[in-house]
Amino acid sequence: MAERREHWATRIGLILAMAGNAVGLGNFLRFPVQAAENGGGAFMIPYILAFLFVGIPLMWVEWAMGRYGGAYGHGTTPSIFYLLWRSKLAKILGVFGLWIPLVVIIYYIYIESWTLGFAIKSLVGLIPEPPPGAQDPQSVLKPFKEFLYNYIGIPKGDEPILRPSPFAYIVFLITVAINVFILVRGISRGIERFAKLAMPTLFLLAVFLVIRVFLLETPNGSAVEGLNFLWTPDFEKLKDPNVWVAAVGQIFFTLSLGFGAIITYASYIRRDDDIVLSGLTAATLNEKAEVILGGSIAIPAAVAFFGVANAVAIAKGGAFNLGFITLPAIFSQTAGGIFLGFLWFFLLFFAGLTSSIALMQPLIAFLEDELKLSHKQAVFWTASIVFFSAHLVIFLRGALDEMDFWAGTIGVVFFGLVELIIFFWVFGAQRAWEEINRGGIIKVPRFYYYVMRYITPAFLALLLIVWAKEYIPKVISETHWTVWVTRFYMAGLFLFLTFLVFIAERRRGDEED
Ligand code: PHE
Repeated sequence: MAERREHWATRIGLILAMAGNAVGLGNFLRFPVQAAENGGGAFMIPYILAFLFVGIPLMWVEWAMGRYGGAYGHGTTPSIFYLLWRSKLAKILGVFGLWIPLVVIIYYIYIESWTLGFAIKSLVGLIPEPPPGAQDPQSVLKPFKEFLYNYIGIPKGDEPILRPSPFAYIVFLITVAINVFILVRGISRGIERFAKLAMPTLFLLAVFLVIRVFLLETPNGSAVEGLNFLWTPDFEKLKDPNVWVAAVGQIFFTLSLGFGAIITYASYIRRDDDIVLSGLTAATLNEKAEVILGGSIAIPAAVAFFGVANAVAIAKGGAFNLGFITLPAIFSQTAGGIFLGFLWFFLLFFAGLTSSIALMQPLIAFLEDELKLSHKQAVFWTASIVFFSAHLVIFLRGALDEMDFWAGTIGVVFFGLVELIIFFWVFGAQRAWEEINRGGIIKVPRFYYYVMRYITPAFLALLLIVWAKEYIPKVISETHWTVWVTRFYMAGLFLFLTFLVFIAERRRGDEED
């Protein structure tokens, strides 16, 4: 009794929308920082293994679950899990597939707005200049660091309240508005059309920046040394569990896995359309954008200017050091630098935008599918909740990191494991396998049947145990009130979403059983 559901208009549009979902700030900001922090070449082996043994299998599983749910008129996990497993627990676990993207979008969209703000400031030349004659990283970077700190309003001392510049706040409003503008048009006329414009643009910008970075000439070295750093394997480091945790975490984040966001996009695929090749293509596009493009801008530029050791120190100095402080500083010292800075931030903005709409879509789909709101109402309410909640991140120091940890780091791995268990163990391995392969232009190699059934879930479970051991003591011993406020807020969102699921169930009555 599925009602008429929107569908992607074209296969290329679907692939670009999915690639747009995956290619985001994670590719250009998070990946270089993770790689540099974890020893460059030491990171790449676990990273590639994580792609093959976690990324690819989970990606097929999410595409299959989404397409399956869509055929019954459901685009989010509370209902899709319930279709696969008639149990209350399935619904509760499914709430995570709404909660994770909601928590992540709350900070993601704010960071995205910085990229727009910095792009505008670069374009009109309001970016600082490096002090004349400065050579050492410290003094070159200082004005740029102050610039970022003023923008987001980090206080000098350790007061917990941030005071962003009015400009930052206005640009945040504009960013939310742009997201809404795309989302109200719906799947094929909004998201798909925008992806068809944004993805090629993004690709050209990134290629241009890579070429420009490799033409940098500096007294301290060259971009090629940055590539050597990234691509010289270090087998010793494979013994370090932290490198593995980081690599798997990056694979989840960059491929948008374990968020529920791929599932929702996949629910707009027609029941017998290919997902095997399309899914693989979208994932591969993301990896190219990450390791080839994302890996060839920030790190090589930083290494060329400051050498490997300094570049690593910069990456370790915080998530935003490389992209928002170091890169603009480097560009400002090169010919045409202001414009390069603009291109860099504009690239980030487009990458972020095609991802933030994907993070909003699950809640929108839920409100439409399950609570029967009109599309416009669903977009309006989703954007309002995101806008309201974002104030916590805008004004409370530390909220961003706390949310990123629970939803964007641990939550996704947990949820990925839940998906595999529900699909391959509860729904049934044979049915799941057929569901994945139905309509496939190519067949998934049989080998992956065993990977999805045994290897990936065992590996993820192990990872969660290692994590729990390390983090639970830290989590409990946290005393700062800002952290607890953030945790309570996140818990409140979870309860709120659970309540909505409950309402939806009441509304639907027993229509299906
Ligand atoms: N994959 C995106 C990135 O790399 C983040 C994201 C996760 C986007 C989940 C949408 C859904 O930035």
